[in-house]
Amino acid sequence: MKIAVSGKGGVGKTTLSSLLARYWALSGYRVLAVDADPDANLGAALGIDTTGLTPVAKMEELIHERTGAQPGTVGGFFKMNPRVDDLPDSLSRVNEDGVRLLVMGTIKKGGGGCICPESVMLKALMSHLVLYEKDRVIMDMEAGIEHLGRGTAQGVDRLLIVVEPGRRSIDTASKVLQLTQDIGLTKLAAVGSKVRNAKQEQFLLNNLDGIPLIGMLPFSDEIANADLESRPPSLDDPEIHGAIEKIAAELEPQD
Ligand SMILES: Nc1ncnc2c1ncn2[C@@H]1O[C@H](COP(=O)(O)OP(=O)(O)OP(=O)(O)O)[C@@H](O)[C@H]1O
Ligand SMILES: [Mg+2]
Repeated sequence: MKIAVSGKGGVGKTTLSSLLARYWALSGYRVLAVDADPDANLGAALGIDTTGLTPVAKMEELIHERTGAQPGTVGGFFKMNPRVDDLPDSLSRVNEDGVRLLVMGTIKKGGGGCICPESVMLKALMSHLVLYEKDRVIMDMEAGIEHLGRGTAQGVDRLLIVVEPGRRSIDTASKVLQLTQDIGLTKLAAVGSKVRNAKQEQFLLNNLDGIPLIGMLPFSDEIANADLESRPPSLDDPEIHGAIEKIAAELEPQD
């Protein structure tokens, strides 16, 4: 199963991604959590020390070795399909629950959408993760989903849009909905985040533009405290466990 997570800044994408990843790992799946947000902090949410961990986009030697060209160069010849299948194992770090983390990093955009060694490398890796990787993959992304690309996006089983009960979060969800239509990704679902009461729940239900709401993570003191204490929230917390269990069940293939 391959899940991508998107939504407005600060809504709880990383929190949801990390909790689902840990839930699956504790249920016995091999899980790869992919940090595809330029402002990477999925490691912290998983309780992984990422000091000294270089994002894939910044691994100059590796990119050179695999593409045949030095990152930073534009034009010239390089492999458009570098080998990447060994990278999820060799570059990831594992957390306490057995979740493996891969940090993608970002590329400074050259004018006109660069085709450069580092972008080819990231594209190849993304596409491998979605289309060929055997593990469950969950990708923590920013609000934009453009780096999925058309071919890759079609391999994503579900794009989860995290929404807070608030107008701006809903607006972002509508924008993401539009982007997904552009790239042919139709399997969308929303997850409510930081929901405090029935009124907020109803707000989400009324305003999601037809995107199915498959679950809700309530506003949780345990999640807020964990953040203050720089530790992952406890999955034993009944409220968190119940919410994640339901969302995970909704994501399981029905047949
Ligand atoms: N259900 C929740 N209850 C209480 N606090 C929450 C909840 N979900 C997230 N938070 C808090 O909200 C803040 C933002 O959460 P998180 O980092 O998961 O969002 P994000 O969407 O990944 O943000 P960014 O766009 O910056 O990557 C964090 O301080 C987190 O602890
Ligand atoms: Mg985040």
